[in-house]
Amino acid sequence: MKTSDNVTGKQFTWITGIASLMVMLVLLLGPPLANAQSLTIYSGRSKALVEPLIKKFEAEHGIRMNVRYGGSTQLAVALLEEGRRTPADVFWAQDAGALGAVHRNGMLEPLPEDLLSLLPGQLHNSEGTWIATSGRARVMAYSTARVDTAMLPESIFGLSDTRWRGRVGWAPSNGSFQSLLTSMRLVEGDETVFQWLRDMRANNAQSYINNSALLQAVAAGEIDIALTNHYYLFRFRETNPDFPVEQTWFAPGDAGNLVNVAGIGMLRTARNPEAALAFMKFLLEQENQQWVTNEVYEYPVVEDISTRTVDTPLRDIQEMSPDLDLDDLSDLNRTLDLLRRAGLL
Ligand SMILES: [Fe+2]
Repeated sequence: MKTSDNVTGKQFTWITGIASLMVMLVLLLGPPLANAQSLTIYSGRSKALVEPLIKKFEAEHGIRMNVRYGGSTQLAVALLEEGRRTPADVFWAQDAGALGAVHRNGMLEPLPEDLLSLLPGQLHNSEGTWIATSGRARVMAYSTARVDTAMLPESIFGLSDTRWRGRVGWAPSNGSFQSLLTSMRLVEGDETVFQWLRDMRANNAQSYINNSALLQAVAAGEIDIALTNHYYLFRFRETNPDFPVEQTWFAPGDAGNLVNVAGIGMLRTARNPEAALAFMKFLLEQENQQWVTNEVYEYPVVEDISTRTVDTPLRDIQEMSPDLDLDDLSDLNRTLDLLRRAGLL
């Protein structure tokens, strides 16, 4: 016997009425209580790094975490597309530019002073909508066997000199390199950077897929210098203490010395701001800063963290970096444009 098909028009209206009433009640009362104890993170940081910290936070705070992993730029684009409908409570990015893009679209909530005051001024953006969680410095890595350090250029622009013909490697498709180019554009102007890209190409600069490949190429003798991030060398030394590569900065203030950060911001539409702020504070705790530093060799953002390898405090490194607003690193499109015009993408 079929019963469900035998619903009369009158009964149907009645059932619809009850259903709409229930929907209205849910809307009035807000989401179920369970949601108050969960937090949704968009993470541009890798799962290998983030997952152990997330598990620790869950255990300590009893808050269920939902994580969406992806590239920092890709997640920033997703957030801009989703707008106010985004399920994300916080955005944890590998790069200040990705945070800057979301901030400039008005999607990040200003953070409370008690959180911002845990960090020196240059480790959060000027409007206080995101904070750094670790520091990442650009460096020039070189072969200890084939490079006379006295010959190394003072400026990144010196790498297009014929002395370095065919000896320099870079990774044009890598996000960190693209952020460096953005900072160079801000400091020196687009045309200067465009000309440098063309000169480097004419000088037979070698393109690699990523930073690890660059360091391997230096060790293997394919190239003598690589433009990379500071922590890769420490990772190679972990397995081979005699890895034949060293690294250095350009002269203080040179456009080649970008100090970028990984950082985190809370969405204006966050459903659980208390949990979001608790997670941000958690990431700045000594023990967790120590973990990130030991795990990926990035610079801690709070003071008094002992590190195995990164022995220069971040604030000293930052003095080497040109003075710029890290939110400005969000202007990636013009950088990609230059790379395409120079035939590098
Ligand atoms: Fe990296």
